[in-house]
Amino acid sequence: MAYNLLAGKKGIITGALDEKSIAWQVALKAKAEGATFVLSNAPVALRMGKINELAQHCQTEVIGADATSVEDIENLYKKSMEILGGKIDFVLHSIGMSPNVRKGKEYGDLNYEWFMKTLDISAISFHKMLQVAEKLDALNEYASVVALSYIAAQRTFPDYSDMAQAKALLESIARSYGERYGRLKKVRINTISQSPTKTTAGTGVSGFDAFFEYANMMSPLGNAPAEACADYCITLFSDLTRYVTMQNLYHDGGFSSMGISPEIVGKMQP
Ligand code: NAI
Repeated sequence: MAYNLLAGKKGIITGALDEKSIAWQVALKAKAEGATFVLSNAPVALRMGKINELAQHCQTEVIGADATSVEDIENLYKKSMEILGGKIDFVLHSIGMSPNVRKGKEYGDLNYEWFMKTLDISAISFHKMLQVAEKLDALNEYASVVALSYIAAQRTFPDYSDMAQAKALLESIARSYGERYGRLKKVRINTISQSPTKTTAGTGVSGFDAFFEYANMMSPLGNAPAEACADYCITLFSDLTRYVTMQNLYHDGGFSSMGISPEIVGKMQP
């Protein structure tokens, strides 16, 4: 059911790779709620071609941008404002990648060039998207910027490796830039800490199935699916959350407040 929550709003949605992507679901919901927006992804992801199906469905355009490139991000905002006919009201940062995780490097044997890449792609890109937006004055007052995080920022999940540092940095940027942009332009900046979700990025982490099942058993409501994460993003883009900023908001079926669940206790008993 749609509520017209984003009627008249203009946005940028990054990170839709295929139907499983959280960003893909956000695009579908944003469209249903009356927003107009552009889609963006890294040039290499665009070559897969899937995103064009989504663009067609949403009657919009795709702008290629490597999130580590300030030049690409400048182009992204400029073109988006041209296409949408004005400043931007919401931005979704749904970007994450670790070469160390992808290539199965142990945490005690990290490649430091790749570590820097992990941080650049998955976290510093968020700062770049905010700094470029500020310099171009591309965001309207009370615009809302959301990035997606994971609880490995606070707690250790060994297989998540250097992505844990990337998420901690991402959440910290949301707080620091949230203060600055809130004071300057009333722009809101938050991260959503999402349950494990079966996407390309998610399932790329070794042992994913185990921590998906574990989180599901620990969470009173079960793991939150991508569609529900998209719903939560929409509420943050809407005017109903105008005073929510600088927060890391758990969207995890209750996982983050749990110690142990009856289901896990049951599993541990002989
Ligand atoms: P996904 O694989 O569908 O999306 C990741 C996106 O990042 C892809 O579209 C990819 O092309 C893009 N990307 C990678 N390098 C890029 C670059 N240099 N420039 C621009 N884009 C680039 O997977 P998912 O799960 O939808 O990931 C979205 C966000 O959600 C990520 O930040 C991820 O860490 C986060 N998240 C995912 C969870 C999961 O279990 N799947 C749980 C919590 C957070």
